[in-house]
Amino acid sequence: MAPPTEVLVQTSPETHPHVPKRTTVKALVESDGLTSIPSNYSYATHPNESDASDPNDTIPTIDFSLLNSGDPHQRSKVIQDIDKACQEWGFFMLVNHGVPETLMKAVLAGCNEFFNLPMEEKMEFATKDIWKPIRFGTGVDIKVEKFFFWRDFVKVIAHPEFHCPSKPQGFSEVVQEYCKRSRKVTMELLKAISESLGFEENYIDKAMNLKSGWQIFAANLYPPCPQPELAMGIPAHTDHGLLTLLIENGIGGLQIQHNGKWFHVNPLPNSFLVNTADHLEILSNGRYKSIMHRAVVNSKSTRISIATANGPSLDTTVCPALELVDNESRPAAYIPMKYKDYMNLQLEGKPGLEHVRLPVA
Ligand code: OGA
Ligand code: NI
Repeated sequence: MAPPTEVLVQTSPETHPHVPKRTTVKALVESDGLTSIPSNYSYATHPNESDASDPNDTIPTIDFSLLNSGDPHQRSKVIQDIDKACQEWGFFMLVNHGVPETLMKAVLAGCNEFFNLPMEEKMEFATKDIWKPIRFGTGVDIKVEKFFFWRDFVKVIAHPEFHCPSKPQGFSEVVQEYCKRSRKVTMELLKAISESLGFEENYIDKAMNLKSGWQIFAANLYPPCPQPELAMGIPAHTDHGLLTLLIENGIGGLQIQHNGKWFHVNPLPNSFLVNTADHLEILSNGRYKSIMHRAVVNSKSTRISIATANGPSLDTTVCPALELVDNESRPAAYIPMKYKDYMNLQLEGKPGLEHVRLPVA
């Protein structure tokens, strides 16, 4: 979930008169008279751009309620649809998932309140250490010296042990309930995905030790940006873990790579945006691809998104499922690596998949 490179709080460029010394994007936007973005937020000259995708393409939608409707034919049809969505898109919208709309709205509102806390209260959680249970920060790309992204974030480790800031009031309770419910949906999806890969439904649960599975709750804040075409909220990346579930406050900004182009996602209200992540790509020996995505910003509205990343337990060594490997026709395409070691690679700022993917013979 998150590009490899982020830290808290930067020293702002001396050249921009409106920017306080230590800042978040929120503080920057709220400083008086910001009509242009500081030069080190300017992303437009960076490579990796491509055209918008075919407007006739539509993202697959999966009706979660049909998985457990009691009709086995319906279930196997949905499992086929999931298989197709994961192979062709690495991404789908999930509807009728049973997580109450009120809870989804409440957790988004809670995150908004968190970001509205006084700077000192958020700064308490400022750290570069990805293993700290609570982290507050803002995006910065250490590879492209001093380039900053138009995003603030807070991340908490939610499973196997739940952590959360105690302020604002009621925040921890609502985040915990949301994490519990979204984890339950994830577990059901992973049963279906076990089957879509040809296994019995508890295969991934057992192989990935999901009882102690790692879950991270990450809330992103993208304040309005005076020059959105120059800035970037989150640069292109893939997520670690098995499945990421994302919700947002109806503003839009997520783009995913599809057939070599950026596809702008307009989520259905109350849906989860689900993407297959790095460790599902590895486990499935490349049958499902971890999808590249990014978030762009706009000039009018504040966007909040919440990504919950759901991974194996930290001590699980992930490699292609033996049953999906055939030394002649389908050799293993990834080397085994412990999930914890994979997470540590983030610190080096290099995409984890590049470390474990074997060159094609
Ligand atoms: C993430 C992410 C996209 C978004 O947090 O990993 O990809 O739309 N977020 O905010
Ligand atoms: Ni992501």
